[in-house]
Amino acid sequence: MTEEVARRADANANNPYHKTAESYEAKLRSPLVRPFREAEEKRLTQIFDALIRPEDTLLEIGCGTGYYTRTLVKRARHMVALDDSEAMLQLVCNRLPAEDQAKIEFVHSEATHYLPPEPFDIVLHLGVLDYVREWQKFLTHSITHARRAVIFTCPTTGFFGQTFHYLSLFRGIHVMRFRREQIENFLREGYPDWQLDMERVGINSGWTGGMTWVATLRKREPET
Ligand SMILES: C[S@@+](CC[C@H](N)C(=O)[O-])C[C@H]1O[C@@H](n2cnc3c(N)ncnc32)[C@H](O)[C@@H]1O
Repeated sequence: MTEEVARRADANANNPYHKTAESYEAKLRSPLVRPFREAEEKRLTQIFDALIRPEDTLLEIGCGTGYYTRTLVKRARHMVALDDSEAMLQLVCNRLPAEDQAKIEFVHSEATHYLPPEPFDIVLHLGVLDYVREWQKFLTHSITHARRAVIFTCPTTGFFGQTFHYLSLFRGIHVMRFRREQIENFLREGYPDWQLDMERVGINSGWTGGMTWVATLRKREPET
């Protein structure tokens, strides 16, 4: 595992997973969380099928316990799985079969402090922006290090996104929520050559507004 950040003062202080790595998967399996997770995974699988090519290199920021790493590594030529939490990285590292481990470099770092020697075809962060207050800086980093696409999720401002936010406050964690226009305006000003698709998933029955945005940023092809 590569130790990119020597000074752990650089770690994301709002990241709850420094303390709760072990209980993360039990939370994902709980009946309250599972339906949201399944909806997100269904949409993400369609996006992975459409965008990831076998010759691609991937950067997965916030790989956690490897929930998506397991499928991503099989779809790509090589990937970097990065996380700010050493406890999370230890869990994922020990679980993957040797053939998959051979295609992955694990990096222990806060995302924006990681400066790869060359860009990746696709950068992904799934369930990470939730904890990132300086989200513009974070997205800038992802776009800077992606050649073709950035795939990410983040909480909505709908009923379930707000519920997640307020319940997390009891644990001292600030969960971010996002409006479509926030991301659109940020891109319009700084990255007009990137095209955004955003979709709400997770019990999205009109008034609820879904739980999670599943977003894809694609670099526009130059016109010939
Ligand atoms: C909700 S978990 C998601 C894990 C995995 N992507 C999944 O979908 O199951 C968020 C992960 O992002 C990591 N994380 C949060 N902020 C980060 C940052 N600024 N840089 C790197 N990793 C971060 C946490 O340590 C945690 O493992």
